Amino acid sequence: MSIVTDLTRMWLTRSAKPFLFTNEFDKRLPFGECQNLGLYVHIPFCKSICSFCPYCKVIYSKEACNRYIDALIKEIHMVGNSQSIHEPHSAHEQQTFAGALSPHDLSAPGKKQVTSLYFGGGTPALAANRMAEIISAIEEHFVITEGIGVELHPDNVTVPLLQTLKNAGVTKISIGIQSFQEKYQTILGRGSVDIDAMAAALKSVPFETVSMDFIFALPGQTFDDLKSDIDTAFENGANHVAIYPFIDFTFTSSNVTAMPKREKRRLLDAITKYCLDKGYVRSSIWTFAKEKHARYSSMTRDNFLGFGCSATTLLKEQFKINTFSVDEYCKRIDGGLLPTSLTLRFSLRQRMVYYLFWTAYSTRVAAADFEHFFGVSLKKMYGFELAFAKLLGFITEEDGTYQMTLKGAFYYHYYENFYTLSYIDKMWGIMRKEAFPEKIRL
Ligand SMILES: C[S@@+](CC[C@H](N)C(=O)[O-])C[C@H]1O[C@@H](n2cnc3c(N)ncnc32)[C@H](O)[C@@H]1O
Ligand code: SF4
Repeated sequence: MSIVTDLTRMWLTRSAKPFLFTNEFDKRLPFGECQNLGLYVHIPFCKSICSFCPYCKVIYSKEACNRYIDALIKEIHMVGNSQSIHEPHSAHEQQTFAGALSPHDLSAPGKKQVTSLYFGGGTPALAANRMAEIISAIEEHFVITEGIGVELHPDNVTVPLLQTLKNAGVTKISIGIQSFQEKYQTILGRGSVDIDAMAAALKSVPFETVSMDFIFALPGQTFDDLKSDIDTAFENGANHVAIYPFIDFTFTSSNVTAMPKREKRRLLDAITKYCLDKGYVRSSIWTFAKEKHARYSSMTRDNFLGFGCSATTLLKEQFKINTFSVDEYCKRIDGGLLPTSLTLRFSLRQRMVYYLFWTAYSTRVAAADFEHFFGVSLKKMYGFELAFAKLLGFITEEDGTYQMTLKGAFYYHYYENFYTLSYIDKMWGIMRKEAFPEKIRL
């Protein structure tokens, strides 16, 4: 399976060089020059563990959670304090490519402007009583312009909890419903959702975006099942839905099998058409918004800083991942060091592939934005691939913006599945066992 991703990587990066992640890391992160920077905070605690879930999480205890949040706040200050005093730490950092650090950026005083802040997990609401404290630590260094989002478990959707989040400054929530139907809740090992109680709580504490997450391509799932889930979501307080394809990670204990390709495509196409016919806006490959302003995506940012265990950071020249071990995370921070486990130093082409892959998640890529980011035209770098994708009917072009077609969106989704299973599955599988692996080659 990884032959597909290997060949694609070699083709698009024009090199046999793999993505090499090593355990060396920067003590200060050069994010001062990054525009369109987003923030992500990971809270890895859950009341119980779902067998299908690949994310970094542990069983909640008040003591472990408080120790973790103390470390998290320290990490935020360690990273935040380093922005205006960036110095190159390695020969690599001193070699810059087009549009990189300018003397002005190096000395820019004050707070860094960022787009959004997302809390994910785990179940971030288990630290709701400390959310205001975390947000205020963030706001000592950053100015957030597009709101704050938090992922919730359906059990978290109560008036007092929503009010606590709202008082802390949260503007968007995303609720992990997975399915409203008992059949699929049983398959996934999840409890039932009290729809009326949830709708009443959402009505009394409104948020700008209320998103609901669903998993599709579960065994036997039909268009009518999914349609009913989406309708129920929009009728009960959601103005945005995310429909994620089920991924059968090798290291999870789930015995749910993924749906065959043809059936999955039929289902994805049918549900996409249904949402578009209803007038919902496709805000990214798997998300649809009922109201135009509703947005919930922690993925479609050019650069992001991640705080907390397993959190990733994407900057102009590097991608880094924090350790997956909650204990080692706290120890590193107590020792005054960033909890980075692995760092990938990009070649220019590798960075372009990352940029295109994550921007394509929004279903469109603007040539002008690419040129602004890299200082070179998209057509010059990938003219052949764009023409080929157009010929295959994967994309259309209008005024310099490439828009994915329905067919393109399915194949992107299909390729993303390969990528997840051959890259993310391998990396997370290792990082769950080893806090600081020496290197990983992908
Ligand atoms: C961290 S969870 C959401 C918040 C909360 N912990 C919950 O479970 O409700 C993030 C989302 O990832 C999705 N997800 C988890 N495991 C998945 C898998 N194996 N395949 C596809 N999506 C998955 C689910 O839709 C889930 O809501
Ligand atoms: S799906 Fe949510 S509640 Fe279940 S283990 Fe994953 S993060 Fe925890």
